[in-house]
Amino acid sequence: MGPAPNLRSVTAAQKPAVPAKPAAAPVKPAAAAPAAEPAAPTDPAESIVKVLQNLFITAYGAYYIAQTAHWHVTGAQFNEFHSYFGDEYGYWADKIDVIAEHIRTHKQFLPNSLSELATKLPRHELINDPIQLTARYLKYLRTVEAYVTKLNNYAEAAKQAADIDLAGEMAREIKKAIWKAEAIVGDQTAPAA
Ligand SMILES: [Fe+2]
Repeated sequence: MGPAPNLRSVTAAQKPAVPAKPAAAPVKPAAAAPAAEPAAPTDPAESIVKVLQNLFITAYGAYYIAQTAHWHVTGAQFNEFHSYFGDEYGYWADKIDVIAEHIRTHKQFLPNSLSELATKLPRHELINDPIQLTARYLKYLRTVEAYVTKLNNYAEAAKQAADIDLAGEMAREIKKAIWKAEAIVGDQTAPAA
């Protein structure tokens, strides 16, 4: 699969930190009381949360993109695409809840308003063409796939079984969703030789 698409406000602003070299030990003042150890910024669980939060934002974007496509699509194939995007946003409505609950199991929180969430997602012009709408949606799917891969890597490193399960489940689902969208758009990557 090609590189992650450019949903810049998500990928650049919130790119998860690479897990973790321990910070250099602080120099202890000669006669001071023992200082508390600095909080471990390199805890793998902390990186998993960042990936989950980016996954949530992108998944929410995919949800809204699919739902607006369901509403905005026009043309001779309206019924087919209205139904296709309806199925897709239904999937995301369930999945963003699952991702959010994973974030809560790590005792972290979600954006508390749509305006906060919207600052992390790109703006889009209104379009109605079913192929263009699918191509736009496909970019979100590919970004989600990149975060799912990253989640799997971090979760494996931290031995977080529940997050590994989520990554595996979503990897299968997103692969199928990308296959379907690519079949519509005609933008399939070349098969291996
Ligand atoms: Fe509807």
